[in-house]
Amino acid sequence: MKKDVRKAIIAGNWKMNKTPSEAKALLAQMIPLVKDATCEVVACVPYVDLAAAVEATQGTNIKIGAENCHWAESGAFTGEISTGMLKEIGVEYVVLGHSERRQYFGETDETVNKRVKAALAAGLKPIVCVGELLWERECDITEEVVARQIKLDLFDVSEEELQNVVIAYEPVWAIGTGKTATADQAEEVCALIRATIKKLYSPAAAEGITIQYGGSMNDKNADELVGKLNVDGGLIGGASLVADKFAAIVNAASNN
Ligand code: 13P
Repeated sequence: MKKDVRKAIIAGNWKMNKTPSEAKALLAQMIPLVKDATCEVVACVPYVDLAAAVEATQGTNIKIGAENCHWAESGAFTGEISTGMLKEIGVEYVVLGHSERRQYFGETDETVNKRVKAALAAGLKPIVCVGELLWERECDITEEVVARQIKLDLFDVSEEELQNVVIAYEPVWAIGTGKTATADQAEEVCALIRATIKKLYSPAAAEGITIQYGGSMNDKNADELVGKLNVDGGLIGGASLVADKFAAIVNAASNN
């Protein structure tokens, strides 16, 4: 197992925070703080902020991502956004299957899979979120739950396409709760995910794929988390809304 064969990615998931002008201001604060990062730096922002965010980060090392996309190219899907729309304005990443979408908006593994395939076909890089609920962990079925999500969410995704996929392990009980998984818990499940990828694809695919941890990751705990062999960066909620906290996490990933 070698950490230097894959890229660590620190991605902010801004969720439903920041208007376009606030987004510009936050990115302007972040740009000088993360400019020397050796890991990939991504900000996933609300749809209406995307154009302003792409413009504000032009010529910098910050990449922009969306927080969801629809699977159809176009059509009668009121309120939805297509991959082509995201691509045209310069978006590179898209968060898919976030637990908040699964919990509050009826997202299923089947619809996550459709979105993943559409994103890949359009040349976007999906950040596919998986993770167990608290009671699933308590019932000791974390391994089954996460392996099932990986198999279903990546169904019919080829090994070549997989090179553009990022996986985020986000235990649902750790999101926005201030309860972080311990570094050992994060490592254990990220390693399980890598083993699942190895079984489904190949040893090379498993070695190459970026697997992030997400859930109450912050400037204080990032160093220990990203120091783990199978944790290739993080997907950050709350702490990604504060420039110096986000930058500290980027630095932790750059130094590991
Ligand atoms: P928090 O970092 O706020 O716990 O959110 C994590 C998350 O859901 C990132 O997608």
